[in-house]
Amino acid sequence: MSDRANTLAIETKGLVKTFGKTRAVDGVDLAVPAGTVYGVLGPNGAGKTTAVRVLATLTRPDGGEARVFGHDVVREADTVRSKVSLTGQYASVDEDLTGLENLILLGRLIGHRKAAAKRRAEQLLDAFGLTEAAGRQVKKYSGGMRRRVDIAASIIRTPEVLFLDEPTTGLDPRSRNQVWDIVRIIVAQGTTVLLTTQYLDEADNLAGRIAVIDHGKVIAEGTPGELKASVGSGSVHVRLRDAGQRGEAERVLSANLSLGVNLEADPVALTARVDGNGGGAAEQASLALAALARSGITVDEFSLGQPSLDEVFLALTDHPATDDAEKEAVA
Ligand SMILES: Nc1ncnc2c1ncn2[C@@H]1O[C@H](COP(=O)(O)OP(=O)(O)OP(=O)(O)O)[C@@H](O)[C@H]1O
Ligand SMILES: [Mg+2]
Repeated sequence: MSDRANTLAIETKGLVKTFGKTRAVDGVDLAVPAGTVYGVLGPNGAGKTTAVRVLATLTRPDGGEARVFGHDVVREADTVRSKVSLTGQYASVDEDLTGLENLILLGRLIGHRKAAAKRRAEQLLDAFGLTEAAGRQVKKYSGGMRRRVDIAASIIRTPEVLFLDEPTTGLDPRSRNQVWDIVRIIVAQGTTVLLTTQYLDEADNLAGRIAVIDHGKVIAEGTPGELKASVGSGSVHVRLRDAGQRGEAERVLSANLSLGVNLEADPVALTARVDGNGGGAAEQASLALAALARSGITVDEFSLGQPSLDEVFLALTDHPATDDAEKEAVA
């Protein structure tokens, strides 16, 4: 992996995949530098899994091009397959076997001798904090342990490119952090990781660059810093005592915070994005709170968090994240 410094691990141009009338992937251009983590951020139905399946040669594109280390995913599918591994959105290991048995079995399937398969299995279980659970059936694992053994299963043979499809959806914060640590270990060993996620903070924590996708199209691309410059690095949530003061609160927040203010469905609630320039999100949020107090507005609740995916979409598209199924149900 010496001549890889400026190489693209993944490159797509105008990639299209359709299912009947649904354009699941609708002209996607991606350029993923080797040795990095690349985040693909999008809501349900955005086309994340479909794009990953095309790149992993599990399904053929209907248009455009996709290459993995320069190899075309259709014409050179076998070469691509030798370089990539996919940890799917849904678990792939055998529930009735123990973690150790699963990993040994997979090692044997790719041609390791018994001793080598056992050594690799134990090494991965250790690296992923699963040594104590090694002898337990996978169906008795927690969600977080389950995701970790899934990822371990997909890197028995160290892949050049690893696709992680929503690796932390449904996990508690502690398990998410454990999975994040694993991703960092994998990248430190030279693997390029393409990770799909519905969480801005996940992409922010792990990825060098992020593509935001919506209805099969890339609607924004850049470093987490660039994305947050347009979307905001924080999100302020305010609940007022009196709905009658909401107009005034909106005015005060708009005057004190540089990014957009939203009125929530709840008549006493507002959300405002904070860009964190000139003193950090927390400082700006506290100045805004002080300004509300000076204007005689009574605030019952005030919190600062990360912008949600909905807020990202509102900032980028002027509409909240919706999925196709929802849209069809409404139509
Ligand atoms: N095998 C299929 N047959 C028909 N339509 C499909 C198929 N797979 C995906 N789709 C449709 O393609 C679109 C993109 O789906 P995809 O699973 O790629 O989205 P996703 O971003 O992975 O969503 P999620 O976050 O829910 O996993 C959706 O409208 C989905 O209904
Ligand atoms: Mg998916």
